[in-house]
Amino acid sequence: MTKQILLLHGPNLNLLGTRQPAVYGTVTMEMINERAAAHARKRGVELRAEQSNHEGDLIDVLHIARNWADGVVFNAGAYTHTSIALRDAISSIDVPVVEVHLSNIHAREEFRHRSLLAPVCVGQISGFGWRSYLLGIDALLGHLGLLHD
Ligand code: DQA
Repeated sequence: MTKQILLLHGPNLNLLGTRQPAVYGTVTMEMINERAAAHARKRGVELRAEQSNHEGDLIDVLHIARNWADGVVFNAGAYTHTSIALRDAISSIDVPVVEVHLSNIHAREEFRHRSLLAPVCVGQISGFGWRSYLLGIDALLGHLGLLHD
């Protein structure tokens, strides 16, 4: 059966394209979703994308992902730095999660340096703009043993 991955975007990422383009670039979330889906397809994997500005909704989406997704690529936006509830959600599901960020959070304000999610994720990719998502997909597929040499 075809493997399926969830690409999950947190708060404010629906505004990509016009949101602080000097930091996040000009590529919209819809374009990222298309590029990510095409990239996954090339790897023989199906990708479904979702976005929410609400912490509880993101938790619900992660819970539901338990029933269908083989893995998750997650940009939690600012919740990365604040949300124990999202961290617990990731810990509570038996689905590997790769954390991604467009910007290099370690090169920005101090409050962005800490990720509450990173310790419960497979790993973190940060700083490569929209390509962070493609790298995240490959990192996840590598982790799942689905990347072939
Ligand atoms: C972000 C980095 C976060 O610090 C910020 O709150 C975001 C976007 C990124 O993709 O670079 O909303 O996750």
